[in-house]
Amino acid sequence: MAEQKVHLKIRRQDGLNGQAYWQEFKVPYEPGMNVITCLEEIRRNPKTAAGKPVAPVAWECCCLEEVCGACSMRINGTPQQACSALVEDFQQPITLEPLDTFPIVRDLIVDRSEMFRNLIRVKAWVPIDGTYDLGPGPRQPAKEQTWMYVLSRCMTCGCCTDACPQVNDRHEFIGPAILSQVRLFNAHPTGKMHAGVRMDAVMGPGGLTECGNAQNCVEVCPKEIPLTQSISELGRDTLAYGIKRFFSKPDVEM
Ligand code: SF4
Ligand code: SF4
Ligand code: FES
Repeated sequence: MAEQKVHLKIRRQDGLNGQAYWQEFKVPYEPGMNVITCLEEIRRNPKTAAGKPVAPVAWECCCLEEVCGACSMRINGTPQQACSALVEDFQQPITLEPLDTFPIVRDLIVDRSEMFRNLIRVKAWVPIDGTYDLGPGPRQPAKEQTWMYVLSRCMTCGCCTDACPQVNDRHEFIGPAILSQVRLFNAHPTGKMHAGVRMDAVMGPGGLTECGNAQNCVEVCPKEIPLTQSISELGRDTLAYGIKRFFSKPDVEM
């Protein structure tokens, strides 16, 4: 009986300014294999479907359990994690492309630094490091912990940003994941002390008003983070904050 194969079509590019091109590969099928397993097989034996030796395909992964966000790519056109993408769930040939929103480093590897720069821009952290002990912090009801935990599962994988039509060369929109993190840190018992600084950031250029409410983001998030809910809650909060800011002094700087 002929060996069962997985047929892959991969968009490749040597670097940021290189020319994109497609190559096809066929790797032996094994039950339960995922897209990373296929890419590992191509790395072991870098030959096209026609048998031509080529440079191994470049891609990234780390955790292999949908936690680090490194293996994001477009699989059959949809941004998702390659480590949790089971071959049997896809129609063949399976097309692999780099995320479109970020600069290409090589083949399927993109540079997601912009997301991390945006997290810095909105101060998505709780400032607990200092020269003195801040103590245990206020207690938090279990109900709040539950919904905040869902938001905290964001792995900055970039899938939502890739799917969002508002993140492009014409806008400086920071994207849905960053807005959701603002909601998370503003709700944190210690983080909320600096909520105003974050609100100022999301009310500025590239912030909340750039969202066109297309809802593509929430559909692709592998962690099922309620991004559009975060965005609408944040919209309500910015309205209240705007009124408060109008009548009071600026918030504390971090
Ligand atoms: S709802 Fe907003 S953030 Fe989400 S995809 Fe649409 S425009 Fe982008
Ligand atoms: S919100 Fe979801 S899709 Fe967006 S970066 Fe976080 S985990 Fe990825
Ligand atoms: S390798 Fe970490 S999310 Fe896929």
